[in-house]
Amino acid sequence: MKGLLLSGGKGTRLRPLTFTRAKQLIPIAGKPNLVYGIEDLVSAGISEIGVVVSPETGADVRGALDSGERFGAHLTYLLQEKPLGLAHAVLVAHGFLQDDPFVMYLGDNILQGGIAHLLELFEAKRPAAVVLLAQVANPGAFGVAILDAQGELKGLVEKPAHPPSDLALVGVYLFTEEIHAAIANLEPSARGELEITDAIQQLITQGSKVEALRVRGWWKDTGKPTDLLDANHLVLSHLLPCLRGEIDASEVTGNAVIESGAKVIRSQLRGPVYIGRNAVIEDSYIGPYTSVGDGAQVLRSQVEYSILLDGARVKDLPLMLDRSVVGQDAVVDGIQIGARKHTLQLVIGDMSRVTL
Ligand code: G1P
Repeated sequence: MKGLLLSGGKGTRLRPLTFTRAKQLIPIAGKPNLVYGIEDLVSAGISEIGVVVSPETGADVRGALDSGERFGAHLTYLLQEKPLGLAHAVLVAHGFLQDDPFVMYLGDNILQGGIAHLLELFEAKRPAAVVLLAQVANPGAFGVAILDAQGELKGLVEKPAHPPSDLALVGVYLFTEEIHAAIANLEPSARGELEITDAIQQLITQGSKVEALRVRGWWKDTGKPTDLLDANHLVLSHLLPCLRGEIDASEVTGNAVIESGAKVIRSQLRGPVYIGRNAVIEDSYIGPYTSVGDGAQVLRSQVEYSILLDGARVKDLPLMLDRSVVGQDAVVDGIQIGARKHTLQLVIGDMSRVTL
């Protein structure tokens, strides 16, 4: 069994963060989204993993993951020249996959319960494919499954205007070599992509067995900033406390991870919170579900339910920073200008978002 981890795509809904990095490398509780996928594959016993990358972000992904040795994996990088769809990524990877069965894992997905049950079902029933499903409130944003009364998978439709159910296709799939012939017959969809959903539908139409399985625990596709914050929330909910950095008489309630070299001075941490390596928290309050990146600083400020990327600096804020994502080395600060209390002074990059 091989793994195929997808790390292409443009991440347009996460701009401006994705102007400078692959969306799959945005850290969630201190770890790139992509790494959670590798860990799931490795703990299911899959170590031979192809990583599909784009020309824009391939070097960064390679830099972040390297050979994969430290995860117990052997990674092979596969270049997808253009973002022509998930099925196109499989086409690009065919030489690497050969005719072995494989688990395809979208690098912007994050699962709580892992994928072992997906492999167990495959071993037990040997279908042509297995898909994972999750109940969602907004099925129109995903591939949607149609099940019969017995719970058998009858069909799939990609991002339908009128969803036939509330069961979304999770971005983790198990395929046998049958998928390659189905992909060879595909026509591009309305959005100009070769859709994996259409290829699986073809398997169903031709009478090949496709099993559907419910996801274990929570699942998140981190396509939008609010999804990133929610994924951060979900991961931090299971955080085990760990103190490697320095903390003075600051008050800590709930679970906190304070990485090596980090300093927490005269502050209040209300967990779960993650404080990255060499970060500095001084005279501040860090509220629940906040991740502070390596080398980031929070000075004389309050932050809650937010992600600060590496090297971000937040200081002297007159208001609490809430439900926010602050990019790498970005600065958010308040200024002391006497009576002119209602002044804003901003340098905002292209496609940024500021909510006051
Ligand atoms: C893709 C698939 C969709 C699936 C989703 C899961 O959508 O096309 O069927 O439900 O991943 O994350 P995309 O994220 O490319 O819009």
